[in-house]
Amino acid sequence: MKEKISILYTLIEKIIEKENISKQKIAQHVKLLSDKFNNFNASKNTYMENQLSRIAYLAYFYPINVYKFLHIISFYENYFSGNNNYYFDFGAGPLTFYTALCLLKKDGKVFYTFDTNYEIMELGKKIITMLNKTFSDKIILKEPQKPINVLILSNVITEITQNERVELIKNLINRLDKKNCIIVVLEPGTKKGFENIKLLKEFLLNFNFSDLTFCPYSKCPLINNEWCHENLYFPRSTLIQYIEDKTGLNNRFINFTYAILSIDKKPLLVFQDNTFRVVSNLLERKGDYALYLCGKNGINQYTILKRHINEKNSIIKSLRRGDIIEVSNYTKISTGYRLDINSTIRILKKFS
Ligand SMILES: C[S@@+](CC[C@H](N)C(=O)[O-])C[C@H]1O[C@@H](n2cnc3c(N)ncnc32)[C@H](O)[C@@H]1O
Repeated sequence: MKEKISILYTLIEKIIEKENISKQKIAQHVKLLSDKFNNFNASKNTYMENQLSRIAYLAYFYPINVYKFLHIISFYENYFSGNNNYYFDFGAGPLTFYTALCLLKKDGKVFYTFDTNYEIMELGKKIITMLNKTFSDKIILKEPQKPINVLILSNVITEITQNERVELIKNLINRLDKKNCIIVVLEPGTKKGFENIKLLKEFLLNFNFSDLTFCPYSKCPLINNEWCHENLYFPRSTLIQYIEDKTGLNNRFINFTYAILSIDKKPLLVFQDNTFRVVSNLLERKGDYALYLCGKNGINQYTILKRHINEKNSIIKSLRRGDIIEVSNYTKISTGYRLDINSTIRILKKFS
């Protein structure tokens, strides 16, 4: 992934060079955009109208979001391996999802895309053209004219007013090929991003969608102020490091939340009683390790004394959010569950 993102950094730099905009100005506009995203007012959504904001997005937020998709697409590779899929990215920005797909050398029939701002999509298309001309020739900067197999909603839900959301989603569902479709939703790893996805999932369950995300529950057990997210180390370019030094922003680790839903497809992974999704990073304490796992028995803390680490369970030290694991031999204690020398941990699928 590091290699793929550095290819992208080189191309982004080429585009920025031609614009003749100072790094300092880019950093200023990244900060303005970041403040806007943190206090988003959906009815005043015009930030992409300005070329400086578009370049700021391209320099900073675009590679971060591409990096998230590199992981999601790889984790759910089977859904993106067909060559005949019609894709539609709604609110595509600089074609973030298609950039990741292209970097991973995936293919499709046609890549439709729509954004209220046309120029930002053109910027993304320029980058993809430099990456792979055959892929970019299949990108149509228009709403789809065919039934869609893969619909992408990436960091866009917040920008749609509550009043418009239901109609928009119904309209997008109507464009899907119901016999072969998936919806991929990505949001920031915040309480609000998680809430957006949770509500969307619940809404789509009423339209015969099922959840393909590797989660033990299609209806998430988290309530009120709780939220679940992924967390990845992000290899930053020198430009991104400069922007962060100037603005105080910090994306050495990136947080995000996502879901994959379908009408016709079945989940690729069925959770058994001893299958878990890792929902926290490992906490190393004085005498033990602790982490949270989501499984059929809910979300609980699992601990193991350092002196009980052995070849059957030492893999615990490498676990990160999003990994899917199988655990055997653990006992209930007052704070959750305890693993010991007899416990075995096996990684079924590694997210990062
Ligand atoms: C935060 S950006 C995300 C861009 C890209 N999907 C990504 O993840 O990097 C949100 C994009 O949604 C677009 N957008 C907002 N409201 C929209 C609407 N009602 N219809 C189409 N695009 C919209 C914005 O112009 C912007 O490019």
